[in-house]
Formats: sequence, structure tokens, C-alpha cells
Amino acid sequence: MKKIIILSFLCVAKIFVSAQTKPIIGAGKEVDPYHYAIVKSQTFNKASVACASPIAANVGAAIMKQGGNAFDAAIAVNFALAVVYPGAGNIGGGGFMVAKTTTGKTIALDYRETAPAKAFRDMYLDSNGKPQLNLSQYGRLSSGVPGTVAGLFSMHQHAKLLIKTLIQPAIDLAENGFAISAREANSLNAMRESFLKNSSTRSAFIKDVKWKEGDTLIQKELAETLKRIRDLGQKGFYEGKTAELIVAEMQKGNGIISLNDLKNYTVKERTALVFTYKGNTIIGMPPSSSGGIIVCQLMKMMEKRYLDGFQTPRTTQLMVEAERRAYADRAEYMGDPDFWKVPIKTLTSDTYLQQRMLDFDSTKATPSKNIKAGMIKESEETTHISIIDQYGNVVSITTTLNNSYGSRTVVAGAGFILNDEMDDFSVKPGVPNMYGALGGEANAIQPNKRMLSAMSPTIVLDKNNKPFIVTGTPGGTTIPTSVFQTLINIIEFNMNATDAVNQPKFHHQWFPDEVAIEKGFSVETRKQLEAMGYKIVERSAIGRTEVIKILPNGKRETAADKRGDDSVAGF
Ligand code: DON
Repeated sequence: MKKIIILSFLCVAKIFVSAQTKPIIGAGKEVDPYHYAIVKSQTFNKASVACASPIAANVGAAIMKQGGNAFDAAIAVNFALAVVYPGAGNIGGGGFMVAKTTTGKTIALDYRETAPAKAFRDMYLDSNGKPQLNLSQYGRLSSGVPGTVAGLFSMHQHAKLLIKTLIQPAIDLAENGFAISAREANSLNAMRESFLKNSSTRSAFIKDVKWKEGDTLIQKELAETLKRIRDLGQKGFYEGKTAELIVAEMQKGNGIISLNDLKNYTVKERTALVFTYKGNTIIGMPPSSSGGIIVCQLMKMMEKRYLDGFQTPRTTQLMVEAERRAYADRAEYMGDPDFWKVPIKTLTSDTYLQQRMLDFDSTKATPSKNIKAGMIKESEETTHISIIDQYGNVVSITTTLNNSYGSRTVVAGAGFILNDEMDDFSVKPGVPNMYGALGGEANAIQPNKRMLSAMSPTIVLDKNNKPFIVTGTPGGTTIPTSVFQTLINIIEFNMNATDAVNQPKFHHQWFPDEVAIEKGFSVETRKQLEAMGYKIVERSAIGRTEVIKILPNGKRETAADKRGDDSVAGF
């Protein structure tokens, strides 16, 4: 396989050329899984999609070209990602969608995983009360009941095309294979031992020799599972053979998901979290994700203050202090709203958020130990998809298996990876999860409860109520702070979509009491923050954000994050 790098003003493309001559798949047969380009940024006239894989982005664009709307594209892209981006694309995980339709409807869909009925509060503690994080993070016991397939069927009520049309590209990709990128080859190689340890059979991800760029990944068992979904609908996953295979996999080890858990899984349609920021309307995801509340708190804590420039010491300090306070609230107050009363109204109110910043000191860091959750009297892999269609519908979806390749348990005979989302519960008060997030009673494990998420699919409408920004990102606890910075970059600093996504990011989450920064963060700002008492640590990439910015002339400026194989497509 040869690689050609094309650089142009708005588009960085890497074209994979393969000797393969297998059939070209997908809607209209225009998606070629062996010859494809990574397009980082492009402005389209009518419709566009940005997501973690160029093949999946092309599937989405093809579906819209044949008349499908943003919901059709979202379903097709999700199924395709479950095949071509197994680290996070999934049918064995869950996610959230916010959308705004051309008819003015705002939709928030919660298809987060749930704790199996046999789950209980201390299930990850040993007899001495010590957390066993290997059990909440890997293998069968780490999996919640998957929500993705039910979520996609729920989305389908807003779509135009048949499910069988939308799932077929994924079936073809699984059955005939596709050329993997260097990044995918490296991560599959890195996961080999973990897959072997946590799965009962050798899955399609295991090879005798190392994977390399351009190799074809074929997933026959996954193709059969997708065909059952195509032919039997949602029941093709939650009942019958697929459900039996999931339960059989559970019984090979310590898993507890039952046939009833699967049959009883339900999607929740929530009331979207809607707030205004300087005349724009921002639509976010309410609990069971903390994402919308945190993004709202962060934006509101900025709204009345002067931001003197991009990542200046003053602006950065202000944003960091807001982040510290928002994450303290998350740990105390947020959990599945069907099990825990989340004081959303207070947490997002102007008065409360002004009060929250009263102890902000512009000359020095506020130690996190001095910050508690506010007083209220009122009782590293996920993936994001941003889509706008030619009709004006916008869809923003974040979906995940939690960790990269989830639990690393591939369901024998069904070919898909199960999530390890149970780790997003607070396994014990004061014990951080894999992203360092703390939690307590609000997010304790209970049967059928949804574990608290940070996923923040977001849509911004402009002053005329027209779609302006569609965005979201993976990144665990860094998700709301990445979305926050992306919104500030565009709304306050007027950046184009590409700059808004690619600028270095920073992150504070209350505990650990430190500011994490990406490579490239301003040296001068770092120096000044350190002088004020902030501990600064450089870390790996923060987020893989996908942005569509709708320009005043209606064009769709679409950008995929430089931090991965993320790509845009459209027309
Ligand atoms: O729902 C959440 O907040 C986490 N399970 C998300 C995990 C994630 O973003 C990993 N990606 N880097």
C-alpha cells in the first residue's frame, strides 16, 4: 500500500491505495474501503459529517447524497464506526445524542449503558473493602448492558431511509473487510495480549503476525450479528441469538448480564439542557451525562467576565478556576436522574454560578481542598460524530465503550466488543475512576442505574435560532472542558473550525489539583500560572473534537481533529 500526502489550503489528505479489488460498498456504491483519504477540513455547501474515520464519514455523506437526512447519516455512521473503528465505535456500548430538527424540535436521547440487575454497590470491593479496579475496567464484569442498538433504533423515528439501507455499509465493511490505517494497526497490536486475556476465543482482532497499515480487517461474526439486526430489528440484538451469545460469554467468566437485562433495556428521551450564552442558545446533554451541566456552568461562569485573549494567563486562569468548581459539583451532585435527584435548575442558574466564583482570586490559584461542591438547598476512547444535512437538521452524537476497546471482551460468535462502562460508577466514595473522577452516593452502583458520563454532544444556535456550531469529543473527564474551550475559541475568539479544534487544550478537574496541558500550550502563560501557584503537567492529547461551524452564508465549515485519523466528508 502506498500513501500519498496531499497538502492544500484547507485540506490535509492522506490517501490509502491498496492492491485490493474487493467490491466497493455502501449507499450508491461510492464508498471505497481500500482507497480513501483523510480530509481534515473542508467547507461544504449542503451537508457534512465529521467523525473518527474517513470510511465512516464517507458512508454518512453517501447516505445524505441519496436523500437521507442527518439522522439517517448518524445511524449509518454509527454502524460503520462499529466496524471500522473498533476502539470506540460500537454496538456493545452506549451514547448520547442531541439534535435540532428543521421543524424546530430539540431532541436529547440517552442510550447510556445500565448496571445489570445483579449489580450491587460494593461489587468491585474485596473482603477488606479495597477496590479491585481490574474488575471494573477489564473483562466481563466491567460491562454495562449495551444501549447503542436501542439508541440507533430510537433515532430512526426521525430518519427517512430503511434501517436495512443504513446498516448495509457496515455489513459490507465487516464481511469484505477494509484497509486499516497505521494508527489502527498499532493499537490492535498493542491490544493483542489484553484481547487474549479477556476474551474466550481468538477474535478477528488477533493475528499471528503484527498488523500493519493497509492490512485488511475482516469481521465475519460481526457481519452476522449486524445481519440479525438488519433482519430482526432491535430484537436481533437484545433477544434471540445475539442475546444468547452475550449471556453465554458472561457465563464463561464472571459476567452478570442476563437475558432479562438485555430484553429490558430502554432508551430514555430526556429534556435537553438548554441555556443561553451572549445571545446564542446552547443545547447540551442532561444527566445521565454530567456533560451538559458542566459545559453550561463553565460558559455561564465566563459570560459576565472579560476574556482578554486566547490562552492569555488571565483568561486561562479564569477558565481553570471555573473548571475546578464545576468538577467539585459533579462529584457531589450528579448521577442517573432516575435514581438520584440532580439539582439541575440550581446548578445551572445564573445566581448560583455567580456565587460560585465569588472566592476567585485573580492573583493566585485556589487550592482544590478549599473548594467544596456549592451549597444547594433544592431538594481514553470514545468517539464523536457531528452532522448537518441539506435540509438543516443537525445531529451531535458521542458514543463509547469507555476505555479504548472497552472491556477487551469480544463476544464469542458475535464478534463485537463489550464496554467497560461500569468503571464510570463511583466504585467507592473517594476512589477515582480511570479518568481520576471522584464521586459519591449520587453515582453509587445500583441495579439498572446508568453510570454518570461526561459526554457532551453539543449544538449552538445563533441569535436567529439557526444552527451555528455542532461539536463534541471523546476524552473522559476532559470532554466538557474540551467542548467548553472549543465554544470559547469560536464564540469569543472568532476562530475558524480548524483552529478551534487544533489549538492546544488545558484541563482542570478539581482533583488532582493540577492543570493538565497539551504540548504546544503557551510557554509564557504556563510560566505565569506557575508563578501564581498552579501545578502544571504536560499530558497526552486532550480530546478528538469534531466541529461543524455554519457560516453566515450557510456554508458548512467542517473540521476533524488533527489528533487522530478523524476525517470530514460532505457535498
Ligand atoms: O462516559 C464517559 O464520560 C466516559 N465513559 C467517556 C470515556 C472516554 O471519553 C474515553 N475516551 N477517550
